[in-house]
This record gives sequence, structure tokens and C-alpha cells, in this order.
Amino acid sequence: MKNKFPWYFRIPLLFFGIWGLMEFFIDGGDQPAFIAYPITQAFLLFILLLLISIELIISAIENVMFQTLSAEAQQRYLSAETKPMISFKWLRSLYLKLLGHDQKRPEEAIELDHNYDGIRELDNNLPPWWVYMFYATMLFGVVYLVRFHLIHDYDQTQEFEQELAQAQIDIENYKKTAKNLVDVNTVSLLTDASDLKAGKTIFENNCVACHMADGGGGIGPNLTDTHWILGGGIKKVFETISEGGRDGKGMIAWKQSLKPLEMAQVASYVIGMQGQTPANPKAAEGDILWPEELPSLEKAKE
Ligand code: HEC
Repeated sequence: MKNKFPWYFRIPLLFFGIWGLMEFFIDGGDQPAFIAYPITQAFLLFILLLLISIELIISAIENVMFQTLSAEAQQRYLSAETKPMISFKWLRSLYLKLLGHDQKRPEEAIELDHNYDGIRELDNNLPPWWVYMFYATMLFGVVYLVRFHLIHDYDQTQEFEQELAQAQIDIENYKKTAKNLVDVNTVSLLTDASDLKAGKTIFENNCVACHMADGGGGIGPNLTDTHWILGGGIKKVFETISEGGRDGKGMIAWKQSLKPLEMAQVASYVIGMQGQTPANPKAAEGDILWPEELPSLEKAKE
């Protein structure tokens, strides 16, 4: 088969073409499909192997057919064959060098004297890639011996402990960035301006209908006073927002619609309303006092 495109163009071209089609037809959301659906990686691997095996089969057939031609026809075939657009001469000669081919020595010179039914053996040099790798393993062995058996740089136990300590640090760091991991047991008052701003937005979008923008209360209780029906403090407030109020009172469980971090943000914002004076304060409800020492607000009401 005379082909202008050698295999190293055909295979990538077809492979990336099929990959492109796959990405076009499979919607992976905001990720490429091959990341969103790891099974497609198996598909791509299968396609790649298929393309390679097709190439191998074709070239094997070509080779067999070529052998069946007469010498003259072989000559004609070779001269008619189109040259590939690009041929990597230097790459090929490097490859042959790494394999230890010596073009100057004819095969007869290195042929060993046994011949089994036409199967001959050549006395080739060891391939240089193999020899140098062997030297490299020897060097590695010496360095390893000196470092770990003579100097005792570190041993497995130390390595294990180091990794364990690093893992602890990584977990702490992860928890810091993954604020969404908070729950009622781990939640703490957020003080970052950005968190409080986010909390304010969430409050304005979800809560003002019942609690008023300034927390003065309406259908829901006043959030600025020190009296709480369900309990004050970040943990209790987070729990109320997450799980809702008493049945039938109208305060739903927000964990369905707000993420843990969002509940922590809005809870922190609610705590921040403590002691403010709303325009239309609803009378204090609830028997739980928090913070326990009454701030000036309570005194002013008396
Ligand atoms: C449909 C009206 C309504 C909406 C919307 C609403 N709440 Fe409430 N909220 C209530 C009622 C009613 C209560 C009292 C629940 C009870 O008595 O068990 C309450 C109680 C609370 C309490 C506990 C107060 C206490 O004294 O213990 C907090 C904190 C609270 N809400 C925060 C929020 C936040 C934050 C939002 C927005 C994400 C919100 N609420 C949205 C009606 C509402």
C-alpha cells in the first residue's frame, strides 16, 4: 500500500479525531468528558490499541505479499514506493545505535557456526541501552548500600513517622480550605469580613421575610436580644438553622438548601446582630439567655 502518510501521522490523527468526536458527543459538564467519566479513558486506550494493531496487521500483510513477489517485481515495488513526507533519519540511526547495530560489520562476520534448519545465530554485542542501564543499577546499588546500610541515613520506621506527621499537617490544611466540612460539632464563629458579607447576603435572600433585615423579628423571633427559644451561641444557632425550629412554628431545616459553609456564615452573621437595636424590635421570646450577662440593650428596655 503506497501511503503518503506514514503510521506516525495516521495513528495520532485518527486517535485525536476520535477523541475529539467523543468530547463532542459526551457532555462532561464543565470538565472534559475523559475526566468526568473515567470509563472513557478505557475506551480511548482500546481505540489506541486497536489502531496500533490495525497498522501492525497491515504492515505484516504487506511484508508477506512483498516476499511472494519475484526479485524483479520487488525492485519495481520499491522504486515506485512514495517517500514519506518526513522521515526521521537521525531518530532511526539513534535507535539503531542504541540497539548496537554495526552497519560496517556484515552479518556473515558475526554469524556463529550453528545452523538449525536455517535458524542461525549472530554474535551481536549487547545493546548499549541495556548495558548502560545495567551500569546504572550497579551505581544505584553502591549508593544505596553506603547511604542506608553504612551511614544509616534513615530507616523505614522514621520514614513512616515522617509521612504520618506530614499527613496530619495535610489534613489540618485541608480542613482549613475545606470550610464546607463544618458540622454542628466543629462549627466556630467566622470573623472574616468576606464570610460575614456572604452571611449577610444569605440572610437577605432567605431570612428577612420572617426575621426582618435588621433581625427585629416578625413571624420569627427577634434575633438581636439575649433571649433565645432554641439556644444562642454559634453551635446552637447553627443547629437551629440546619435542623429547623420546633414543629409547626415555621422555621424550616435549611440544610436542604444551604451548604454547611453557608449555614456557618449566616449563623455567624446572626450572632453578629447581638445587641443591635432594630427599628421595630419584637418582644423578647424564650427562656435561654445568651450571652448570659445582659448587655446594655436589656437594661435600656427596662
Ligand atoms: C418562614 C419564616 C422563617 C424564615 C424564612 C426563617 N425563619 Fe428563623 N425562625 C422562624 C420561626 C417561626 C422561629 C421560631 C422557631 C421555634 O419557635 O421553634 C425561628 C427561629 C430562628 C432562630 C432561633 C431563634 C431562637 O430564639 O432560638 C434562628 C437563629 C433563626 N430562626 C435563623 C434564621 C435564619 C438564619 C434564616 C434564614 C436562613 C431563617 N431563620 C429563616 C421563622 C423563619
